[in-house]
Formats: sequence, C-alpha cells, structure tokens
Amino acid sequence: MSLGFVKFGATTAAQLMSRSQMDVMNHAVRTQSMWWGSVPMGAPDTILGIRDKYNKDSSPKKVNLGVGAYRDDDGKPFVLPSVRKAEELIYQKCMNHEYAPIAGEVAFREACAKLAFGDCSQPIVDKTNATVQTLSGTGALRLGLDFINRYWQKKREVWLPNPTWFNHPQICDMLCLPYKKYRYYDPKTKGFDVNGACEDLCRAPEGSVILLHACAHNPTGVDPKKEEWECLSKIIKEKKLFPFFDMAYQGFATGSVDRDAQAVRIFVKDGHQVMLAQSFAKNMGLYGERVGALTVLCGDKCTADKVMSQLKVSIRTIYSNPAINGSRIVKEILTNAELKQQWLVDVKAMADRIITMRKMLREAIEGAGSKHKWNHITDQIGMFCYTGLTPAQVDRITKECHIYLTKDGRISVAGITTKNVAYVAESIHKVTSS
Ligand SMILES: Cc1ncc(COP(=O)(O)O)c(C=O)c1O
Repeated sequence: MSLGFVKFGATTAAQLMSRSQMDVMNHAVRTQSMWWGSVPMGAPDTILGIRDKYNKDSSPKKVNLGVGAYRDDDGKPFVLPSVRKAEELIYQKCMNHEYAPIAGEVAFREACAKLAFGDCSQPIVDKTNATVQTLSGTGALRLGLDFINRYWQKKREVWLPNPTWFNHPQICDMLCLPYKKYRYYDPKTKGFDVNGACEDLCRAPEGSVILLHACAHNPTGVDPKKEEWECLSKIIKEKKLFPFFDMAYQGFATGSVDRDAQAVRIFVKDGHQVMLAQSFAKNMGLYGERVGALTVLCGDKCTADKVMSQLKVSIRTIYSNPAINGSRIVKEILTNAELKQQWLVDVKAMADRIITMRKMLREAIEGAGSKHKWNHITDQIGMFCYTGLTPAQVDRITKECHIYLTKDGRISVAGITTKNVAYVAESIHKVTSS
C-alpha cells in the first residue's frame, strides 16, 4: 500500500519511522534552520518598557507619566460622550461590513479635509486636495513619506525638529529617506528656539521636506507663536522648501480645533502646497481604532486626481482598503451638527483638564519652596511637558518615588490628577533640590 511517501527501494520512509520519530526529526530540522538567524534584535519600545515596569511596581504611590494617552481625573481611559453617541447611532443603522473604498468613504475624507483646512478654505472650494483615510497618524506619515520617496523631484532630504517624536526618524530610516534635524527646543529657555530654527531652515537645500508639528509638539509641548509660524512659512516659501505637517493633536492644545489648525491654515493661505497627516487617536480618543487621514494639497484638480490615484495604488498594495469602524465614528461626529457640537465640548474638556493640571502642578512645585523656575510647565501646551529633569533625576524619581516617565524628562500631563498632583510636585521638588 502506498501512503504517498517517497519510496526507498521496496520500503517507504513512513514504514521505517514511526509518526512520533518523524515529528522529532521534523522538529529538529525546523529548530536548526537558520533562515532568520541573522536578524538582529530590534530596540524595545521605550513607552511600552515604562508601562511594563510601572505595572510590576507594587507601590500604592506609583504614577505613570509615560503614557501618551488621555486619562480622566481618576487616571482611567476616557471614552468621549460624543463617541458613545456616534456608536449608538451607527448601531441603530444596522450597517453591513462590506469593504470600504480604497481611499476611504468620500464623506469621511471630505470631513477630515474641512476639519483641517476650514469649511470654506480655498483647497476645499477648488477641490485640490488628495485626501485618503489612513491607519491613524502613523499610517498617514508612513504613506506620505513613502509617496515623497517615490515621486519627489527634488532633493530627498527630510528635516525634523530637534527633538521630535521618536517614530519620525524611525519611519525615515525604514524608507531609507535621509533626514537631518533643525533646531527647535532651547533647553535654556525651555521654549522655542526661533532663531535657531530659522537659521537652520535657511540653510536647508532647496526642495528639502520640512516636518512640522502642527500643534502640541511631542515631546516638548513647545509650539511656535502665530508670528513665529508666519516667519517659518515665509522662510519655507522663499527657500523653496516643502512643508509636511503632522497634526496628531488638533484640539488638544488650546481646546479649539480651529485655533490648533492655525499653523496649517497660515501656510495654506501663504500659498504652500502642504502635506498633512491627521490622527483621531487623541482628539476623539479613538486610539485603537487606528483612524486618520493623509492629505496632499496640489495646485489643481487634475494633479490632485493623479496623486490620489497613486496613493490608492500604495494603499492597495499594503492593506488593500481601510478599516470601517473608526472612520464611521469620525464621519458620524463630523457630519452631524449636534454631535459635532458635543465633540467640540468634549475636546475642550480634555484640553481644559490638562491646562488645569499644568497650573496645579506648577503652583504645587513652587508652593513646596522650589528655587527653580517652573513657568515652562504652564507656557508649554498639549499633552506633554518637557520638565527639564535630567536623566539622573528621572532615575531618582522613578526609584525613590515610583513615578515613571521617559529619560528625556518628558511627562504626560494627562497622567496627573487632582489626587496625585501634590505627590508628583513634592517628588519633582525633592529630586531637583537635593
Ligand atoms: C507627534 C505625533 N505624531 C503622530 C502620532 C501618531 O499617533 P497615532 O498613529 O496613534 O495616530 C503621535 C502619537 O503619539 C504623535 O505624538
């Protein structure tokens, strides 16, 4: 009888070996195979590493200021009331689960572009925006930089602010896109280094891509003022550089989605063809839904159509088409006037809680008798504050006070509550005064 195995003379391999012997042999072949043996270990994710250490800490005093997600005053994840309402409305519609169009639903895409540029802005009126749904802000950045990598006619060089979100250089590296840094944060003033930034941008080669955080800069919490944005826009135009905005926190900085879009709108008004990555992770609390958008502004509708067609080709080859749940929620909120009003209230409430925590933290550190200046805590804006703690002080505050944050001294103000603010302030005073 043949079992379908290769015959060795008159005897089959199956007859020579029992099933368990074969399993042992196959296991040995697999474990000794070296196909992937040369893969080096990747660097661990810093934020997740902090979370793991925090979870293992049994101290009742522990505080996690590393996580980049909004928390309520009880330190709990927060689902926005507008999002809950949108979910109910979607549920009542008994929708199907068919594939979305490759670029996402038209109504979703239009709503994203209007939110960023303004309802009656020129690109919206002229339809010169190629906007596609993406896998949150990260997906938008990746798709946008990949597009630049493929179609950019000028020097392929990205200029990132120093410092910047750790994933920006990482994405460039993945795409083999060379990058440089322009001065951004001034450790002396703990504010924006406007002169340094302008000088560096003036010497960037024509056609360089300039990455700008639209608002609530991560990790520093330092944003340029309106006049400074105007100055950056002027330099970027005169030097023929290309602005790519990362807008991951629209509404989170000032509490107003329009004010937080001011930088993008200044550039558009000045005639720039910006690229824009949007995320709804923070301002709608849709972290795990992974919903965002990428816009490439073009000079005319015909170019926008061609750009759109190429973005679709890219999407088709990566994940075919986008997820529908998160984008339905966003669309529901942005296209239903009553719900949008509720959302604007929700965003403001989150931003206001952060602003209040900044004030309380500063007052408590100053009240504890600190001799240092702490105005930067309230001058900075958005979810993050660059405290100015040194790596050694960060080590101490973690070991002695069970407070977890990144080595660069960045804290997520969203992790501070009315219950822990006094303790955090006292601990910061302790490690900065002795
Ligand atoms: C500056 C910046 N850009 C983009 C993102 C992207 O986030 P997500 O992919 O969750 O939308 C983040 C998230 O922390 C960020 O801080």
